[in-house]
Amino acid sequence: MIEPKTLAQRFPGDFLFGVATAAFQIEGATKADGRKASIWDAFSNMPGRVFGRHNGDIACDHYNRLDEDLDLIADMGVSGYRFSIAWPRVIPDGVGSVNERGLDFYDRLVDGCKARGIKTFATLYHWDLPLALMGEGGWTARSTAYAFQHYAEVVMKRLGDRLDAVATFNEPWCSVWLSHLYGVHAPGERNMEAALHAMHFTNLAHGLAVQAIRSISPEVPVGLVLNAHCVLPGSESEEDRAAAERAFQFHNGAFFDPVFKGQYPEQFLEALGAQMPPVEEGDLSIISEKLDWWGLNYYTPMRVLDDPAATEFPATRPAPFVNPEKTDIGWEIFPSAMGDLVGDLYRRYDLPEMYITENGACYNMGVVDGEVDDQPRLDYYSDHLSVAADLVAEGIPLRGYFAWSLMDNFEWAEGYRMRFGLVHVDYETQLRTIKKSGKWYRNLARHFPKGN
Ligand code: NOJ
Repeated sequence: MIEPKTLAQRFPGDFLFGVATAAFQIEGATKADGRKASIWDAFSNMPGRVFGRHNGDIACDHYNRLDEDLDLIADMGVSGYRFSIAWPRVIPDGVGSVNERGLDFYDRLVDGCKARGIKTFATLYHWDLPLALMGEGGWTARSTAYAFQHYAEVVMKRLGDRLDAVATFNEPWCSVWLSHLYGVHAPGERNMEAALHAMHFTNLAHGLAVQAIRSISPEVPVGLVLNAHCVLPGSESEEDRAAAERAFQFHNGAFFDPVFKGQYPEQFLEALGAQMPPVEEGDLSIISEKLDWWGLNYYTPMRVLDDPAATEFPATRPAPFVNPEKTDIGWEIFPSAMGDLVGDLYRRYDLPEMYITENGACYNMGVVDGEVDDQPRLDYYSDHLSVAADLVAEGIPLRGYFAWSLMDNFEWAEGYRMRFGLVHVDYETQLRTIKKSGKWYRNLARHFPKGN
């Protein structure tokens, strides 16, 4: 573990330290003030989809505890807050009438951050698609991309004058592959063709939203948050190295290539192009609109082996961990992969400045005598932040870092059993307890000034 003061000296004085959350994971109050259901409300109420059939009905009750939680964020010493806006609060049916009461909540959130000297990083889509849009096919329908553009417009008209940055999507890898190909996230499909439709229309929605944001709030830096995978071959054999490159194209290239190069990756297209929806003229230039920033969410590397028996691209299977140490969710701990990944991405693509928009660890220890001793999480942060400091020293335009997460929350298909917070949440009483890692992070963040 590195002392916060020593670590702080390795970052520039204007580096942004923040905490991150997402609407569905913390807000609860899913029926309040005109909100309607999202695909996650429906999915979590189906048997066998989410651990313990947990749902987002109450979550951290953040919707009703906004001021208390903003005080908590301020108390954490951070200068940035990354949150997401729930589309089903703002336009409950996905299209059609705007719900002003839903927007009022984010208005108070943004003003509350400003009043506390905390910069606002809003994400427009963190997976809570309005359920009504499933009637059209959800993300597999082109019309959803235009619905998203309209939603982006509505949000920017109301909040654009007070946002410090906006991201269109959080981790399209999850809302595309995990949701439509692997069946793990809502809506729980397992179909390559559907997934490829979701991929292209998500990419298109991103580009259309960038245009809308720019036309309404040209001064707000706009970006995209990607959980780029550090894909490592399980051996040095030619087959496994080729497999790793195919996996790179599938897991990263499907999003990075259209956004930063204006095309889909070559091998990817050869293998899967026939199952994609028609890419209409002009789509790729909309998708590749230049961005002001991008965000990396990093937790663990992806190790792959060639799988000659597989019938579908990228024809890989998982390789064993190199570091036997893993977090409580079973993810290998490998901090240097974060640095290697960022270096690789800047070599491959013409990327703008970046933030680490998520990084953190799952450990499930509870409160003992009023304290949460989560030393392994603290070590995880310390080791990864040291890699982040190296990146800054190497000249990577890394401007800030957001810990995932401010507090324990609804961990999607894992429900509430997996905890990522710097702050412990007792779901019976909603008591928040700052963990040992949270105190350490606070000591680090406090070295950097807040302000608007
Ligand atoms: C990425 C997602 O953006 C977030 O919602 C999730 O909780 C964390 N990773 C941890 O899995």
